[in-house]
Amino acid sequence: LTTSVQPVLDAAGGAAIRLMDRAEQRLLALSVEHGEQLGAHARATIAAGGKRLRPLLVCLAAGVPVPESDGLVRAAVAVELVHAATLVHDDVLDGSPLRRGRPTIVAAGGRLAATATGDLLFSRAFAELASGGSAAAVRVLSRACSELAQGELLQRADAWDANVSVERYLERCRLKTAVLFRAACELGALESVRSDAEEDRRAVTAIGGFGESIGLAFQLFDDVLDVSGPTEVTGKPRGADLLDGTVTLPLIVARERDSTLAGLDLRSIESVEQAAVLCDRIAATGALGAARDRALSMVNEAKRQLPALPERQRAALEMVADGVVDRYS
Ligand code: IPE
Ligand code: IPE
Ligand code: MG
Ligand code: MG
Repeated sequence: LTTSVQPVLDAAGGAAIRLMDRAEQRLLALSVEHGEQLGAHARATIAAGGKRLRPLLVCLAAGVPVPESDGLVRAAVAVELVHAATLVHDDVLDGSPLRRGRPTIVAAGGRLAATATGDLLFSRAFAELASGGSAAAVRVLSRACSELAQGELLQRADAWDANVSVERYLERCRLKTAVLFRAACELGALESVRSDAEEDRRAVTAIGGFGESIGLAFQLFDDVLDVSGPTEVTGKPRGADLLDGTVTLPLIVARERDSTLAGLDLRSIESVEQAAVLCDRIAATGALGAARDRALSMVNEAKRQLPALPERQRAALEMVADGVVDRYS
């Protein structure tokens, strides 16, 4: 696990660490079950790591100390598998060469292998969650997956359109990223309530709202890192969003501040070098700070949204919220 998650785990205690370890073991076991070709790609994706932020949210939303139930392991695993699946498919859609510091499946094995591997990961996620027998849990994850797909489609539909509004950009971020954070929190909370009483449903939704807000902040910050982040740190190429026509908040803000940027045709950006120059110009307008501030205010909003919770659980969730915009900085 990377440094951003570790301090939270330390604060949340032994049960959280054991739960996350069990989820990790289960992820690795699942990824070797599918024969050479598919299995190899799925395994490489899982083994390349990642922050495991969504499984962490599943755990903490259930309570601190984290209840050590099989159901919680299944939920944590299912959410990470969906996340992995969306990354594999996202790299096809975005034409990305690098993920978690390694060549993407689409780059190494082609589009068919990547599509099939993503499908495999999606189906394993639902098999895992469904084996717990909670229809409510399956509904939560399934809704998130549908919205995720809508978000990815919206992104392609808006590609190269530099006049995209901030509202539409935020809606895209909500769909493609924040809903899975919401689902992670709701699945964890569902594990701990296990009742259909109105009060319990409200608690699940409230903690889900927290997840959605930090998910939104997380995507905003990811979009800042796309412009600012060195590849050695992010494991992804800098300027990738510009190269695939994805218009993000830093560019939207920069265009408002710099008239030559406002007139620029995004399709003229064709090389990594041109993208790097554009990244520097965006940064020079101060747009990164503005986008980061917006992400920070979403984090604060998320913390305000938290329902009444036991102190240790609240503290752990707030730590995650604060970590979302602190990545690599
Ligand atoms: C990347 O998510 C995709 C986005 C929603 C921005 P993460 O940054 O959580 O990816 P990993 O799992 O740590 O690699
Ligand atoms: C998030 O968007 C992708 C998903 C939610 C699947 P990005 O396209 O910005 O994610 P990265 O930068 O490729 O990780
Ligand atoms: Mg991408
Ligand atoms: Mg990105």
